[in-house]
Amino acid sequence: MEIKHLSLKLLILFSCIVYTYGNATDCVYTIYVETGNIPLAGTRSNLTLFLSDSTKAQLPIVNLKDWGLMGSAHNYFGHGEVDLFAGKGPCLRGPVCSIIIVLDGFDNWYCQSIEITTVGSGKSCSQKKFEVKKWLDVIKGSAVILQDECSDDDDDSVVGNDPLERSK
Ligand SMILES: *[C@@H]1O[C@H](CO)[C@@H](O)[C@H](O)[C@H]1NC(C)=O
Ligand SMILES: *[C@@H]1O[C@H](CO)[C@@H](O)[C@H](O)[C@H]1NC(C)=O
Repeated sequence: MEIKHLSLKLLILFSCIVYTYGNATDCVYTIYVETGNIPLAGTRSNLTLFLSDSTKAQLPIVNLKDWGLMGSAHNYFGHGEVDLFAGKGPCLRGPVCSIIIVLDGFDNWYCQSIEITTVGSGKSCSQKKFEVKKWLDVIKGSAVILQDECSDDDDDSVVGNDPLERSK
C-alpha cells in the first residue's frame, strides 16, 4: 500500500513534467482500476469509462486498455489485481465526481474500485476514489454502472488549493 501510494505521487509529478510539453488545453488522467479479490472476478472484456464533473461535462475513454501502462502482454482486469492507466484528454471544468463504467465483452467482472487523478496546467490536481464493489454482468444486462458522487459534499477530493476553473 505504501509503495503504491508513493508510485502514485511520483506519477503525478511525472505527469506534471510531461504535461508541460503537451497541449495546454489538455489534462492528464491517471486511473487505477482494482478488480475484486473474489472467485471469477476477473474478465477479458473491454472497459469504457465516462468521466464527469458536477456540470455533467463528460469525457469518454473508449477501451481503457488503450491507456494501459502495464505492458502489451499484460492481462488486464485480473482477479484481485490493480491495473494502472494514464492518458491525456480535454480538461473537465471541475474535479471528476461521477463515472459511468461500461463492460463490453462476453464475461462478467467484479469492480472493486476506480481511482482517478487529474492534472492540468494552472489547475489544482484532483483525486477521487470510487468504491464501486459491484458486478458488471454482461449476461444479465447490467454491464453499465453509473456511480454519481457529485452531490456528496466532501472536499477531500481536491488536493490543491487553487480553484479549478480559470477564466479563459
Ligand atoms: C490544443 O488542442 C486543441 C484540440 O485538439 C486545439 O484546438 C488547440 O488549437 C490546441 N492548442 C495548442 C496551443 O496547440
Ligand atoms: C477488446 O478490444 C480489442 C482492441 O480494440 C479487441 O481486439 C478485442 O476484440 C476486444 N475484446 C472484446 C472481448 O470485445
